[in-house]
Amino acid sequence: MIINKTSILFVCLGNICRSPAAESVMNRLLEDKNRADEFVIDSCGIGAWHIGQRSDNRMISAGEKRGYSFNHRGRQICEKDFERFDYIIGMDNENISDILSLTKSKEDKDKVFKMASFLRNYPNQKTIPDPYFGGEDGFEFVLDLLEDATKGLLNFLDKKKFQR
Ligand code: 4NP
Repeated sequence: MIINKTSILFVCLGNICRSPAAESVMNRLLEDKNRADEFVIDSCGIGAWHIGQRSDNRMISAGEKRGYSFNHRGRQICEKDFERFDYIIGMDNENISDILSLTKSKEDKDKVFKMASFLRNYPNQKTIPDPYFGGEDGFEFVLDLLEDATKGLLNFLDKKKFQR
């Protein structure tokens, strides 16, 4: 059977902490559900500082302890991403306004979502906060949030498919 894949791009500021973690957590969720072949998952950053770099070691070690693997290399968002991806999901309000500033059409804008809007168990949490300048617990909290939000995202996508 030929299936149309759903493509999702996670975006944060540097593409070394939150968005590669979102990519890893989403990939694992899909693998656990035997649904990896239905999706294309990638991540990128608003900034160019970490192009080609591996994810932050603090993020990798927090993630690996929970069984996630990190193979991503940093890259910066580009115009083509609005053609290649169905969903472009930012981690905080600044990411969202930076992503929106790159859109050229309503169709582009309609692809942009905030990751925290998919949270189900953290009703007061409005962003996936940047852990880069903080301590280890910030990385654990990012993973806690992403584990919840990726499940909410998959649920949202399944409902959407059903409505079509
Ligand atoms: P991220 O975290 O956006 O979650 O990847 C950051 C990584 C690097 C920087 C800022 C945030 N930086 O300023 O280099």
